[in-house]
Amino acid sequence: MSDLFSKFDPLIQQRDELLATGLTDPFNLVMEKVESPTVAICNGKRTILLGTYNYMGMTFDPDVIAAGKQALDDFGSGTTGSRVLNGTYGGHKAVEEALKDFYAMDHAMVFSTGYQANLGVISTIAGKDDYIVLDIDSHASIYDGCALGNAQIIPFRHNDIEALEKRLKRIPEGADKLVVLEGVYSMLGDVAPLKEMVAVSKANGAMVLIDEAHSMGFIGENGRGVAEAQGVIDDVDFIIGTFSKSVGTVGGFCVSNHPKFEILRLVCRPYVFTASLPPSVVATAATSIRKLMDSADKRAHLWENSKRLHAGLRQLGFELGSKEPQSAIIAVIMPDLEKGAAMWEALLNEGLYVNLARPPATPAGMTLLRCSLCALHTEEQVGEILGMFAAAGRATGCIS
Ligand SMILES: Cc1ncc(COP(=O)(O)O)c(C=O)c1O
Repeated sequence: MSDLFSKFDPLIQQRDELLATGLTDPFNLVMEKVESPTVAICNGKRTILLGTYNYMGMTFDPDVIAAGKQALDDFGSGTTGSRVLNGTYGGHKAVEEALKDFYAMDHAMVFSTGYQANLGVISTIAGKDDYIVLDIDSHASIYDGCALGNAQIIPFRHNDIEALEKRLKRIPEGADKLVVLEGVYSMLGDVAPLKEMVAVSKANGAMVLIDEAHSMGFIGENGRGVAEAQGVIDDVDFIIGTFSKSVGTVGGFCVSNHPKFEILRLVCRPYVFTASLPPSVVATAATSIRKLMDSADKRAHLWENSKRLHAGLRQLGFELGSKEPQSAIIAVIMPDLEKGAAMWEALLNEGLYVNLARPPATPAGMTLLRCSLCALHTEEQVGEILGMFAAAGRATGCIS
């Protein structure tokens, strides 16, 4: 009899070998209590959170929580239905209005996750005879959207403007084409050269979709993302985003000025064939998004945190994913998985949680300790974090 699980044997063996050394499983940690956006209790110990996507610290905002509680009381715990049947409540419309206002765009469509937003929009607009040119380091949800739509996929080297242009010029005349980019690439925390890439895409007749999952709320004058910061947001056809990062809850969306955009609600399978978000979630998201419009001070403080941590880690002797701090993500490059896991555990024992990331999620087979900062981390906490990196780094031999 066939065993369809045999393909996982190498991974099972690698995991067993790692855990046999007595290491805590880095992919099975339980947050026993979450006290604030920056502190939780893990293994009974106060732990600073430096591995969440809570960039703007909205999860404990009193207005956000009050809106969620009220919606639970008024509308119940869930919609039990699709957006196109019984699953559209006033709250779903309200959060779409908040998104239109936030991005100053004509249309907004909310999905149950950001993963489904990429899956749905990409697979619906680009089909079998269409071409998608995408950065090779694109998120899994982008690749899965391409695969679901069965489009012709042409990847190009990460952040390489010339490579993008060359690929675009090779596409047969008359074919429809979509360029898919991200504002911030979440593994190394680096930013795309969108100004040049959007110009090249438009000059070659392509539509452009930008995933701004890791920049919403933080980057750009109004927090609209890297496309705003680089002055090209008006040339972008679709922006994809998520509520699971700066917004502080769960959900995904696409905003656009395309005049025919609304037809997607009838033809996009990951929108139609799934239940809509619970009323409490859309209420928290709408409140959070409206507050993010007026968060310039928090954005400035988050930049300070990012610069402070980047400079401090560099000074300690760690190798980082980007030369300069470009976002709220700072990736520390580890020599291999064993060292990475040991350092991850040493940091946890010190009282610091970061993300351990490894292939296939990471580029070029790297093992990374990904640090993601929050606007609510204090200057003192960043100092504490650097102290913990120094101690753990020396204990594991990652730095001298
Ligand atoms: C670039 C990017 N796009 C999309 C997503 C999916 O977001 P969600 O958590 O809402 O499914 C993520 C999540 O990690 C992401 O990093």
